[in-house]
Amino acid sequence: MSQLLHLDSSADRTGSTSRALTALFADSWHAISPDHSVIYRDLHANQLPHLETNAQHWAPRLRVPGEEVAPEAEALQQQLIDEVLSADAVVVGAPMYNWGIPSTLKAWLDHICVLGTTMPLDGPTQPFAGKPIVVVSSRGNTYAPGTPGEGTDFVIPPLREVLGVALGMDVFVVTAELTLANRVAPLAPLAAQGEASLAAARSSLVDLAKTIGTR
Ligand SMILES: Cc1cc2nc3c(=O)[nH]c(=O)nc-3n(C[C@H](O)[C@H](O)[C@H](O)COP(=O)(O)O)c2cc1C
Repeated sequence: MSQLLHLDSSADRTGSTSRALTALFADSWHAISPDHSVIYRDLHANQLPHLETNAQHWAPRLRVPGEEVAPEAEALQQQLIDEVLSADAVVVGAPMYNWGIPSTLKAWLDHICVLGTTMPLDGPTQPFAGKPIVVVSSRGNTYAPGTPGEGTDFVIPPLREVLGVALGMDVFVVTAELTLANRVAPLAPLAAQGEASLAAARSSLVDLAKTIGTR
């Protein structure tokens, strides 16, 4: 196992927690051996377009008459799918934006989820099945059980569904919460909890890189 696809989607280019954590994973991956390479895509700095047409959700053989995709849009979609196909593992930064994922990350997901190509429909088409993907979710608040935010995290459950169920990938989730504890006054009493969450995320990612990268 040697090639990692490293994706970031935070709009924060300087103080981002998810960027720092995905970079830590990528560095740990690199450190395993000279054969452990990394391909990087910054979904915020180099934003993908939205899907040009609903036809891109269907494999070409499943499109109905009139559903046509421009060659450039088809080529970009294929490139994004190929990047996942050629990777042995993926790490993706998924900050919480308004209870969900950034639209830049959603655009990538919409491109790689294709019925009959990467998702099963008329046959067992799931070429990403079993591929490890590490989701690094950063969030300003906490959504832990027993907190007011419990049940309102629309980052991790949808990602588990689309990556793990629809695409069949082996999903690992690492969360860093309370990243805004030092900025938002009502969260200040939870600052130590936020620091502990970050330390645990760092440790998990170093361990996961070693485990996945030496499988
Ligand atoms: C547009 C935007 C929306 C946000 N919405 C939420 C939110 O709904 N819940 C939350 O806990 N934090 C929210 N935050 C805070 C971020 O989740 C937090 O700053 C996190 O650390 C972002 O990841 P990053 O540090 O990798 O940029 C939001 C931040 C931005 C910029």
